Amino acid sequence: MTAHPPINDDAFKQFERNGFSRVAEEYDRAIAQVTSQVNEAILDAVETGYNSRLLDVACGTGWLSTAAVKRGAIVTGLDYTENMIAIARWRCPEAEFQVGDAENLPFDSGEFEAIVCNFGILHFPDPERAIAESLRVLKSGGRYAFTCWTPPTRNPFMALILGAVQTHGIIEVDLPPAPPLFRFGDAEECKKVLSTSGFISVSVSELPIKWTFSTPQDVMPTIVASSARLGSILTMQTPEQRHNIENEIIEGAKKYATDNGIEIPASAILVVSSKP
Ligand SMILES: C[S@@+](CC[C@H](N)C(=O)[O-])C[C@H]1O[C@@H](n2cnc3c(N)ncnc32)[C@H](O)[C@@H]1O
Repeated sequence: MTAHPPINDDAFKQFERNGFSRVAEEYDRAIAQVTSQVNEAILDAVETGYNSRLLDVACGTGWLSTAAVKRGAIVTGLDYTENMIAIARWRCPEAEFQVGDAENLPFDSGEFEAIVCNFGILHFPDPERAIAESLRVLKSGGRYAFTCWTPPTRNPFMALILGAVQTHGIIEVDLPPAPPLFRFGDAEECKKVLSTSGFISVSVSELPIKWTFSTPQDVMPTIVASSARLGSILTMQTPEQRHNIENEIIEGAKKYATDNGIEIPASAILVVSSKP
């Protein structure tokens, strides 16, 4: 994951949509319970309250939208993938969900008091454009928060999976080039991008997250079935590479055995800012 070839925005967006369409149900079963561990911290950060209008960008299967509805917010969720939106609609009939592009929001300027984006920013080919769009549809004084994974040096789960691929296989498989996975796992980069985009009072914190599996053998099949890009990278290895990667993941996961199964630590950056 060193050089970053030019991104073809349309090809990348299409890949994302196809990937999340394929894994939507498994994502909802296996990953949404991981990403939603930071829901309350995000909603606290944007000070979501009763009757406030909140937009959940890249809402996925609607777990964060549901948590916001429980606080009394009036919630709109937007995601690029119809299958993810279909689950979100089922999960949270009280919210309004739309299929749409974070880089081209189908809303008027100043419509929302708060905008959240949980693990979405790393999926946009032009994140500056998505941030500018959020700034536009936010009210003056409104708050914006997003999360992103921290890099493997501070994230044992990512270190385990990506380390196994790096050791036994190839990360740069034949997929549409993607934006750097951990760009927004860097606090200084987050502050720079948001300030340059026109946000003020930018603050960054790091939150612990836990990936839980029943057994070490469950880790790789779960990622293959529920993750769009990581799953594709794992699937595209040769059978021998895949076998070796899986063995390394199993051995590595054993170190995280607890009375509750396998609990692998990870962490996320939470960025909060305001519109002047
Ligand atoms: C990792 S999931 C996060 C889902 C949810 N926020 C969560 O925390 O579980 C990333 C989501 O981004 C969506 N996505 C990817 N590109 C998008 C775009 N350009 N505009 C809106 N959503 C997008 C995908 O469909 C997927 O649902």
